[in-house]
Amino acid sequence: MSTADAWAVILAAGRGERLARTSGTRKQYLRHLGRPLFWHSARAFSRVAAVRGLVFVFPAQDLEAMRAEVEDLFAAEDLGLPWLAAAGGERRQDSVRLGIAALPRECGSVLVHDAARPFVSARVVLEVVRALEAGAKAAIPALKIKDTIKRVKNDLVCETPGREDLVAVQTPQGFKRDLLVRAHALAQEQGWEVTDDASLVERMGEPVLVVPGEEANVKITTPEDLARLNQARPAAPCVGLGYDAHRYGPGRPLVLGGIPIPNGPRVQAHSDGDVLLHALTDALLGCAGAGDIGLLFPDTDPAFEAMSSSIFVKEALARAQEAGLKIVHADLTVVAQTPKIAPWREQIAENVAGLLGLERGQVNVKATTEEGLGFTGEKKGLKAYALVTAVRERPAGDRA
Ligand code: CTP
Ligand code: MG
Repeated sequence: MSTADAWAVILAAGRGERLARTSGTRKQYLRHLGRPLFWHSARAFSRVAAVRGLVFVFPAQDLEAMRAEVEDLFAAEDLGLPWLAAAGGERRQDSVRLGIAALPRECGSVLVHDAARPFVSARVVLEVVRALEAGAKAAIPALKIKDTIKRVKNDLVCETPGREDLVAVQTPQGFKRDLLVRAHALAQEQGWEVTDDASLVERMGEPVLVVPGEEANVKITTPEDLARLNQARPAAPCVGLGYDAHRYGPGRPLVLGGIPIPNGPRVQAHSDGDVLLHALTDALLGCAGAGDIGLLFPDTDPAFEAMSSSIFVKEALARAQEAGLKIVHADLTVVAQTPKIAPWREQIAENVAGLLGLERGQVNVKATTEEGLGFTGEKKGLKAYALVTAVRERPAGDRA
């Protein structure tokens, strides 16, 4: 038996009472990014080579249903580790005792983890594992306390312990297997009641090594923590690109970004021919995953004849919002040999910011020529690019 063969015991057998009171779901079964909380922890353990297997501990009455669910989860995403499911007990320490009783013979050390800490990282797991490999019999992740802590009775402060040597401990807590088994047997015998496993080992007089924990490794306990869980959805920005070109010729007076350009060349177009707002519409639709302007507003439809392109922008913006996106930036480029755009740049940017509900600083307007080259160089027409950046605020379809 080698300590390198660590198994994780993931505890999900609690009643989750504090959270169930408001959310209606027992917290260990809450889903985050489409997976139950305990699965997020399982993933973190699977990224550490020394972890050789997982024991999931579920409430006895849910055991069979949860075993089937874990099977489905592995079928969809194989974490490449053997696993077992065990029934937990009345108190957390009972669940740990029952969980470690299920461990296979070859397991040398145990990482006891609360499923209620779904943001645990492979780095924290590795810190604990390395401490055990280096000879510690017990190692726990902890963070220095930032707040001053006070002992309070009947709303009155009775003591302020010095902060320098206080830490807040997290899980996974790692132990040599034999020590943890002995500790829990002793706790049963002596009637010790504890809220973490290290406390048992401390009572036995064994040293417990502290390794760095992580701020993000929070325990989900209250409805406020649940709100944090929802905020934790990664806000990866999404970017939409739009491009459009129009031909100069007998037609409509030039409008760019909703601003009429006096004495500019005329453009041939079905709608108002605003090449910049058309590119912007496509960029918005790109973010929303909603196709392109021709799909929404076919130029064969007489209803869109001479229509102001700001209507297109507003419709595309609504699509992006329906997709759960918040637009945070637009960068627009007009490519034209003629007319000069610079005098209108400020007005265009302000108008576009207004259309998108953005601050002026969130919109940039650029203009360039193509040095006499190509169709813009020959003054046959102009083109425009738009790049829109959005962040996801909520799942698609969930209107604010
Ligand atoms: N736990 C367990 N068996 C128990 C009690 C708790 O496996 N009999 C687990 C919980 O599922 C959780 C972790 O231990 O992952 C930490 O416990 P806690 O945060 O207190 O969760 P609950 O006991 O489920 O919640 P509550 O105290 O609000 O009822
Ligand atoms: Mg509890």
